[in-house]
Amino acid sequence: MAISSFSLYCFLSLWLGQSLLLQASHHVYRNLQTSLVADAHNQVKEPYRTGYHFQPPKNWINDPNGPMIYKGIYHLFYQYNPKGVVWGNIVWAHSTSTDLVNWTPHDAAIYPSQPSDINGCWSGSATILPGGKPVILYTGINPQNQQVQNLAYPKNLSDPYLREWAKVPQNPLMAPTQANQINASSFRDPTTAWLGPDMIWRVIVGSKRNQRGFAILYRSKDFLNWVKAKHPLHSAKKTGMWECPDFYPVSIKGQNGLHTSENGPDVKHVLKVSLDNTKREYYTIGTYNIHKDIYIPDKGSVESDAGLRYDYGKFYASKTFFDSSMNRRILLGWINESSSVEDDTKKGWSGIQAFPRKIWLDKSGKQLVQWPVAEIEKLREKEVKLPSSVLKGGSVHEVLGVTAAQADVDVTFEISDFKKAEVLDPSWTDPQLLCSQKGASVKGGLGPFGLLVLASKGLKEYTAVFYRIFKGHNNKYVVLLCSDQSRSSLNQDNDKTTYGAFIKVDPLHEKLSLRSLIDHSIVESLAGQGKACITARVYPTLAIDVDAHLYAFNYGTEDVKITGSAWSLKTAKIN
Ligand code: FRU
Repeated sequence: MAISSFSLYCFLSLWLGQSLLLQASHHVYRNLQTSLVADAHNQVKEPYRTGYHFQPPKNWINDPNGPMIYKGIYHLFYQYNPKGVVWGNIVWAHSTSTDLVNWTPHDAAIYPSQPSDINGCWSGSATILPGGKPVILYTGINPQNQQVQNLAYPKNLSDPYLREWAKVPQNPLMAPTQANQINASSFRDPTTAWLGPDMIWRVIVGSKRNQRGFAILYRSKDFLNWVKAKHPLHSAKKTGMWECPDFYPVSIKGQNGLHTSENGPDVKHVLKVSLDNTKREYYTIGTYNIHKDIYIPDKGSVESDAGLRYDYGKFYASKTFFDSSMNRRILLGWINESSSVEDDTKKGWSGIQAFPRKIWLDKSGKQLVQWPVAEIEKLREKEVKLPSSVLKGGSVHEVLGVTAAQADVDVTFEISDFKKAEVLDPSWTDPQLLCSQKGASVKGGLGPFGLLVLASKGLKEYTAVFYRIFKGHNNKYVVLLCSDQSRSSLNQDNDKTTYGAFIKVDPLHEKLSLRSLIDHSIVESLAGQGKACITARVYPTLAIDVDAHLYAFNYGTEDVKITGSAWSLKTAKIN
């Protein structure tokens, strides 16, 4: 008898996951998790702080959470460690904005207070219920370190800043049990919910079983009682844990965004997942069959991070929301550091949010397109026009008169002669590898041409964002965009991975555009009018503030034409 109750105890404690380790995709530095840093205001001027990319004054941040617009106010919550510069002690910090550019901080909105979230308040999403009432579903970490899903709601709906949040006593609303066989350490990040024509709510939660990634589907009539569906909305083998899934409709007719519950003949759906294994995201475009409650990616979709990505650089745990005030869908994403923990500790902060981008379906229906929200233009102060001029093969030209450490650059390249385009070797299928083998300093035929940003005088330091054009089969040209960080800093402790993407543009008939948002330690580049983006974190030691320069360059043998503008950007209020 004694033995059997002991084994029952062992079984129960195992089953309840007493021994579960807290699992998220972040490095855990226990000794640094509560290493409070001095107020940023007391610190010497820190060269890597951003002028218009969102960040709090100090400490660690990661995923954007629950973005929404309520009574004309944009809300951004984000994963935040109030006590240190590394991941840990996670709460939902909160800021609001009227223009997605200037932000006002508020007290943390959601923090551990119930058994169902006592070990952390992890990522989640907001849903606007009928009648305009926002609610938040988020992952809580319970006393057994299991991941469960909780509901929070604003205490006072007449406060447009939604400063105080309460939690329902029924939490958790979704939890791993023996019956549902959900992996208690891989069950997180609920999406914005959507309402079917049957008036039933649906939501997905990221998960995995072995190495198969899952979007577990739950349904509810009242948003409180959630029942797990028999089948996931979607799953894919060998992708590992799906963090921060996002599922939303896009219009096949133009750039307008759609409310998350919308469906119909003019609608396609997007499923994006963030891969814990590789720290990269990918998305597919497909059809949501509301009757079967499954999502089917279009034929030919690649189900891995070798497929379509929002951003081919540093960009993770992203989330979209429908901005009903402007009928657009907006994408936010977390940009992690590329520096060492020692350097992060010295600077007292870690992590930035990407500049908000509008996102829509490309005319081809085969990929998404993104563009920084138009509100960025508020910050533009001095336009430097680049009159159409020839960039001779092997030349570098400085763009003068712009604050090169904090700028918005939008240029177009034109090619008139394609004869010198290098032939694409059929084995060159990995754009990132190709960019790292053919970095900015490797001369070519058509390209490399582009921009040298955050560059020091004399070019000891620079980040190169550039195009190369190759000749593929059937006389089709293949366009490669690269962001080469190998010379971005004299500090050798940084991750200087070169990033790359192939871009679906036809250079014979289309101009090649390149827009770069430069912000001290961040370069967000958009190519082909937003068909591909690459974000890089860089830490120049010489090219700082007034010592940062901007150049246009062409190291190919063929001349190219350049035209466009560069703007100095004012500093936004970012908390
Ligand atoms: C993604 C992530 C989420 C989790 C959160 C914890 O970066 O690991 O899956 O909810 O961060 O902070």
